[in-house]
Amino acid sequence: MSAPSPEGPQQVRIALGDRSYDILIGAGLMDRPATWDGLPQAAAALIVSNTTVAPLYAARLRAALAPRYRSVHEVVLPDGEDHKDWQTLNRVFDALLARGCDRKTVLFALGGGVVGDMTGFAAASYMRGVPFVQVPTTLLAQVDSSVGGKTAINHPLGKNMIGAFYQPARVVCDLDTLATLPPRELSAGLAEVIKYGPIADMDFLAWIEANIDALMARDPQALAHAVRRSCEIKAEVVGQDERESGLRAILNFGHTFGHAIEAGLGYGQWLHGEAVGCGMVMALQLSRRLGLVDEAFVQRVTALVARAGLPTVGPALGADRYLELMRVDKKAEAGEIRFVVIERPGQAGVRGAPDALVRQVLADCTR
Ligand code: NAD
Ligand code: GLY
Repeated sequence: MSAPSPEGPQQVRIALGDRSYDILIGAGLMDRPATWDGLPQAAAALIVSNTTVAPLYAARLRAALAPRYRSVHEVVLPDGEDHKDWQTLNRVFDALLARGCDRKTVLFALGGGVVGDMTGFAAASYMRGVPFVQVPTTLLAQVDSSVGGKTAINHPLGKNMIGAFYQPARVVCDLDTLATLPPRELSAGLAEVIKYGPIADMDFLAWIEANIDALMARDPQALAHAVRRSCEIKAEVVGQDERESGLRAILNFGHTFGHAIEAGLGYGQWLHGEAVGCGMVMALQLSRRLGLVDEAFVQRVTALVARAGLPTVGPALGADRYLELMRVDKKAEAGEIRFVVIERPGQAGVRGAPDALVRQVLADCTR
């Protein structure tokens, strides 16, 4: 644990009218009393975490919350994407009801994207909605999943298919928690950081290229900048299109191919961020074949994905299987696959593409 940073946390605002909130970013934030000022008042808090993260950080969070709530309860879920389901979600409702938690109870999601998505959905539906706070502990969750209010669980027939848009009251990114993250998970988070460059900010892409070694070495200042700039870009997009009626879809750059890889291999074989990293390479190749970007740009981003420790070649599932899996993507419309493509470096859009072109990309990018 490092001392709370003397200069205080960095702050990014998500501007959504009466659902606006702040993302706080900094080292040692959990232990800083001001982090928790101004949250909704309640008698009780429930920390939702998992069997990996709770032993590492739940005592710290509990100590921080104890002076503010009469009761601080805890529910510890099994770890893993395969537990992002109804049965596990029900354990959160069981804990809330068994402890007589009322409709003001504040939920705290302490963990990665799985815990965050499930806690958010529990908060959206318990007594028709209670406040919740995201305390993301993976890089992926700090730069993406904890921000923007998408909450969900999986269904056996599809990932994240059951859920709600429900914004947290605050997001607390304590950078200290990244120290215990397994290297593979760090790389997976870097995929979502890299994503923001090609879709929105070429200066940020250049900064990531210059700092990728520092990021891989978990340099605190590099991580702080990466989390902050990623959150700023996401805040800008979500502020314009909270419910993904258009623009927000660009945040799914690399995800259409990526989801096919995850589903085709069986969830858990590749991490979500690994599939997104490779999916970005495929989406870039598609953009090139559509005449939108040149090969030099594709190679530039591909090299960065590789330096982040991520795969750049997809598994050989067969083009038919890829196409079948991509047709069940949430962006698909009447069976037509919609791809996030790079219109020009720093700007993304959503388009359909002829199957023949997609097959060429898959032939080039899988082995
Ligand atoms: P995760 O939540 O499974 O966490 C990855 C692993 O790291 C887990 O084993 C976890 O227990 C462990 N872990 C977490 N923090 C740790 C720490 N500080 N030290 C050591 N171990 C730690 O995975 P993730 O990559 O954080 O999130 C992936 C999930 O997020 C997927 O379910 C995906 O669908 C979802 N997601 C949601 C959104 C959104 O907008 N809501 C966006 C992207 C991804
Ligand atoms: N992770 C994509 C989104 O939040 O829209």
